[in-house]
Amino acid sequence: MSDASPTAPDAPGPDPAAPAGGQAMWGGRFQARPDALMQAINVSIGFDRRLAGEDLAGSRAHAAMLRKQGVITSEDEAAIQGGLDQVAAELASGAFPFREEFEDIHMNVEARLRELIGPAAGRLHTARSRNDQVALDFRLWVREACDRTGTQIQALMRALLARAEPHAATLMPGFTHLQPAQPVTFGHHLMAYLEMFGRDAGRFADARRRMNESPLGAAALAGSPFPIDRQATASALGFDAPMANSLDAVSARDFALEALAAGSICAIHLSRLAEEIVIWMTPQFGFVRLTDAFTTGSSIMPQKRNPDAAELVRAKAGRLLGAFTQLAVVMKGLPLAYSKDMQEDKLPVFEAFDALELSLAAMAGMVGDLEPDVERMAAAAGAGFSTATDLADWLVRQLGMAFRDAHHVTGAAVRRAEALGCDLAGLPLAELQALEPRVTADVYGVLTPQASAASRMSYGGTAPEQVRAQVARWKEILR
Ligand code: ARG
Repeated sequence: MSDASPTAPDAPGPDPAAPAGGQAMWGGRFQARPDALMQAINVSIGFDRRLAGEDLAGSRAHAAMLRKQGVITSEDEAAIQGGLDQVAAELASGAFPFREEFEDIHMNVEARLRELIGPAAGRLHTARSRNDQVALDFRLWVREACDRTGTQIQALMRALLARAEPHAATLMPGFTHLQPAQPVTFGHHLMAYLEMFGRDAGRFADARRRMNESPLGAAALAGSPFPIDRQATASALGFDAPMANSLDAVSARDFALEALAAGSICAIHLSRLAEEIVIWMTPQFGFVRLTDAFTTGSSIMPQKRNPDAAELVRAKAGRLLGAFTQLAVVMKGLPLAYSKDMQEDKLPVFEAFDALELSLAAMAGMVGDLEPDVERMAAAAGAGFSTATDLADWLVRQLGMAFRDAHHVTGAAVRRAEALGCDLAGLPLAELQALEPRVTADVYGVLTPQASAASRMSYGGTAPEQVRAQVARWKEILR
């Protein structure tokens, strides 16, 4: 950014690429250059340079359409396309000059084009405004971001699947209130996240479908008097159709909000898995180990192995939610059509997707890296009287007791086991019969965590057989 203090000298001297009058591109009616502060608050090239590729794609499609419609000559179009090739080469090599005096990416590209090919460059902006140009560029960028994110989510899902399959029968405690509840399998637990991420991918795909209409040709806000072909530019840029209302086309940003909403929900899911990894990594739980690849040490405590990557994934959800709020507040209450407020739409979206993509990659890495401690998990699966529900269910099924009565008897059994310092499976039969005389030795068949998990055969339940069925289903989907 240039020096924005009020005492700074006026903006840079006349630039050769600017139209007559030494003014900015829009400066025909202006007599003086903007105040340095005006430039400082107006400039967006520092962040919208990320739209350079999209801007070129839009300009190519627009120029080709103008020529086909007879609005510009073939010579002018050839000059423009050749110049855009050079701009693309400069962007690729890093030689492209991004200049603050040209405010944003659109005028930077056009100014450079003018330097490279001369006056023909001035015909590119026929029947176009920066309003539909930026709406197009941003939409293309968000569409691409949704596609990238979708691919990354799938990679994470494959990583989860690869972990879940061999652990379809690995016991661990299932929790409610983070208190031991009922035994589940590690594979089942991981597959729960697979379901969440599957819905996240679906949300991005839905958002993409809705956003896939082209705003190009809406011009400033009202459409164009030139015989443009909006269908042609739309299909050249991979859109399903042109947007049907020019006012909506230049002022809609719900596509970005929707992408941020999908991103926020995905980041929330990532943060939940991250939190579980943090908990599982504690010596108190000791359920999983992460290798040196995804942990860090402490500068003072030599024994430490910290799950920093998981903690940072957990925290980065804040960026996504913040970005959604930021853009929602920018858009709230804006009248139609374009307002400069909307220039503030890009930064939160760029930053949000940077954070999300990094989080997804780091999580896929951690899932691939983490190694469960199968014995410790199995031991924990049986702790905390986790098969109490199985005892109550046995009383209902075998003795025809009402569930409420069975619940009561089981509660008494837990109290007795606690007093004797054993688990439910360790309670002598006489103890159980003292509570309910009809209990037989058969009951011990349901009191182990294995039996408990294996019995939960209802669709979507934790029985290894059910987990394997879901693994197979997802394998097919992700193939
Ligand atoms: N840099 C602007 C933006 O990001 C481009 C559109 C400017 N349009 C205008 N009428 N000033 O929104």
